[in-house]
Amino acid sequence: MCGIVGYIGNKQVLPILMHGLRDLEYRGYDSAGVAVLDNGKISRIREVGKVDKLAKKVDGEKLPGNIGIAHTRWATHGGVTEFNAHPHIVDGKLAVVHNGIIENYRELKAKLKNPKLESETDTEVLAHWIYQHYKGDLVEAVRKSLLEVRGTYGLVVMHVDHPKQLVAARLGSPLAIGIGEGEYYIASDVTPMLPYTKQVTFLDDGEVASINGDGLKIVNLRDEIINKTVTEIDWDQETAQKGGFENFMLKEIFDQPVVFEDAIRGRLDMEEGTAILGGINLKQNQLKGIKRILILAEGTAMHAGLIGKNAFERLANLPTEIDFSSEFRYRDPVIGEDTLAFALSQSGETADTLMAIREAKRKGAVVRGIINVVGSTIAREAGAGTYIHAGPELAVASTKAFTNMVAVLLLYALEFGRFKFTSVATGKKMQQALLEIPEKMNEVLKRNKEIKAIAEKYKTYANILFIGRGVNYPVALEGALKLKEISYIHAEGLAGGALKHGPLALVSKDVPVVAICTQNQLYEKMKSNIQEVKARGARVLVIASEGDEEIKEIADDVIYVPKTMELLEPLLNTIPLQLFAYHIAVALGRDVDRPRNLAKSVTVE
Ligand code: G6P
Repeated sequence: MCGIVGYIGNKQVLPILMHGLRDLEYRGYDSAGVAVLDNGKISRIREVGKVDKLAKKVDGEKLPGNIGIAHTRWATHGGVTEFNAHPHIVDGKLAVVHNGIIENYRELKAKLKNPKLESETDTEVLAHWIYQHYKGDLVEAVRKSLLEVRGTYGLVVMHVDHPKQLVAARLGSPLAIGIGEGEYYIASDVTPMLPYTKQVTFLDDGEVASINGDGLKIVNLRDEIINKTVTEIDWDQETAQKGGFENFMLKEIFDQPVVFEDAIRGRLDMEEGTAILGGINLKQNQLKGIKRILILAEGTAMHAGLIGKNAFERLANLPTEIDFSSEFRYRDPVIGEDTLAFALSQSGETADTLMAIREAKRKGAVVRGIINVVGSTIAREAGAGTYIHAGPELAVASTKAFTNMVAVLLLYALEFGRFKFTSVATGKKMQQALLEIPEKMNEVLKRNKEIKAIAEKYKTYANILFIGRGVNYPVALEGALKLKEISYIHAEGLAGGALKHGPLALVSKDVPVVAICTQNQLYEKMKSNIQEVKARGARVLVIASEGDEEIKEIADDVIYVPKTMELLEPLLNTIPLQLFAYHIAVALGRDVDRPRNLAKSVTVE
């Protein structure tokens, strides 16, 4: 996720762009840049760090002009450096800002006639690709080049030969166009334009807009004219940043279908029924030498890791251990060169996990990162690994990073599995199931209102237990963690089978139980666990497979989720629990995005 701003009109563009960048900083904040076109020349200033740092650099410089583009970056390709920051400029003539991931950038790069690239980014390749198509008509250049682009983009292009025109295009990454008096604003969301205009049109996927002082013309990639409606926006600044949601956590829960696609995009080899994760950076014989997997994590990442363990063992027959990073480094763990240790972390800054991978390295393990924040300390120390592409996660309670961590772990398990254990048929079945996940996530999200009504019934309890078995045991842990983090209700996640060995003593009519009981191989066992708590008078909420009518006989409340392959169930089953925790916390008046005593990333031991 990155933030884009563009302006064309009669005002001085620089202050508008700088304000816009600040408004969009929540979308990414590792580097930023502006480019202004004036007198046949594009001037650009870029800086690593937050927008404030860019502002300082811009301060002394005068960049007059009425047309310009700007960008705040959340790195997906290439490290966090000034060279990698946007706007990217080709030959001093064409400037591009881009939000998204160009999946086939290597392929496009190979087709460049003059690939004098100065960055490691997919965006710079795209800029050159558009430049190569330019024959005097900027819209045509953008439209034609996009016909061969795979991936996602929200982009704005500016060219010295067209000092009164900006061209914008969208596929997958949002772009809004604000319409003022003889002026236009373009941005990733409406926040930067709200002080100037409330008249906005939203680009849809596959649309290319030509924006100039005289008007706005939108075509699709087949060059057919599209008539758009203009919407009057009545959001305030803050609501707009949250995409109209009440807070970041809810927005991030609803982001999941889209960012899940980012996690798997370009990483499936459909021919071979496997996954390709370049970041592992090990030769085939080195990969074959890996005999054990170790996952080091904390909090929500730990729960994602437990789901990964299941997948590594089942698909790849690899013994997999998972440990709290904070515990690992103070034990005397048995690891060696045949151990592949994954550091699993959203922020890439968790001190415990950082120390743990240092220890693992010292003991000879191969260390790789599975991280969200590009260029973070753990990502750098791990040296290689895979980014989960969840985009900035601002709410303290992790949601979309969890599902994307699970996605990447599943891809790794598939890749390792296909090396030795898993058949091509199973691989293809799993790929198909993965591709269906976003749509199924959307189906779960459609139940938001229903879940809110159910949450109302549980908000007054002081203790709630969550139970699950097999793949859904980590889901129970995560459901309980979400609830405690943001509602302050005491909750515990338990393995269904472990109930009778102690925790059952807690169960009474005052302690409700949330049971994850989808129709997998442990369905009957899980139903028995539900009976055990029912018999002790507990109210039971069941997460069940769509179409399971029978479950209503033992459940007080049911939330249905679509069916999927068993290993993938956590990707769907966790979402109703995130919403359940969210609605209880809201009903109790909690500060959902910033719960007491917690921090988004804990950089102390
Ligand atoms: C903190 C946060 C948790 C998070 C954990 C691990 O405890 O409050 O929400 O799951 O750190 O964070 P990481 O950034 O390493 O995934």
